[in-house]
Amino acid sequence: MKKLLPFFLFALTVLVPAFLTGCSDSSGENLYALHCAGCHPGGSNTINPAKTLKTADLQKNMINTPEDIVDKLRNPGPGMPRYTEAMIPEKEALRIGSYVLKTFK
Ligand code: HEC
Repeated sequence: MKKLLPFFLFALTVLVPAFLTGCSDSSGENLYALHCAGCHPGGSNTINPAKTLKTADLQKNMINTPEDIVDKLRNPGPGMPRYTEAMIPEKEALRIGSYVLKTFK
C-alpha cells in the first residue's frame, strides 16, 4: 500500500487538475466560437453588415466595454437572439466581451 502513495499524490496534484481544466474549456475564444461565430464569423455580421463587432462599429453604437457587450446579449437588437443568464452566465458573458474587444479591431 505504501508504494501506491506516490501514485495517489501524482493523481491528485497532476491528473485531477488537468482533467478538470480539460472539461471546462470555456475561454472567451471558445465561448465566442460556440455562441456567436455563426452570425459573427471573424467579428463580421452576416445578418446586418452595418453592425459588425469591429471597434469602429461598436463605438458608433456606444459599445465600449465588456459590460456593454453583456448588455447587448441581454437586450439584443433585431435579428440577434437574447442570451439570458441561464444560457450564458455573467462571468462567461464578460469573458466573451473582453475577447470581442481585444480581438476584432
Ligand atoms: C442569429 C444571429 C446572431 C447570433 C448567434 C449573435 N448575434 Fe450579435 N448580432 C446579430 C444581429 C442581427 C445584430 C444587429 C442587431 C441590431 O440591430 O442591434 C447583432 C449585433 C451585435 C452587437 C452590436 C454590434 C454593433 O456594431 O452595434 C454585438 C456586440 C453582438 N451582436 C455580439 C454578439 C455576441 C457576443 C454573440 C454571442 C454570444 C452574438 N452577438 C450572437 C446577430 C447575431
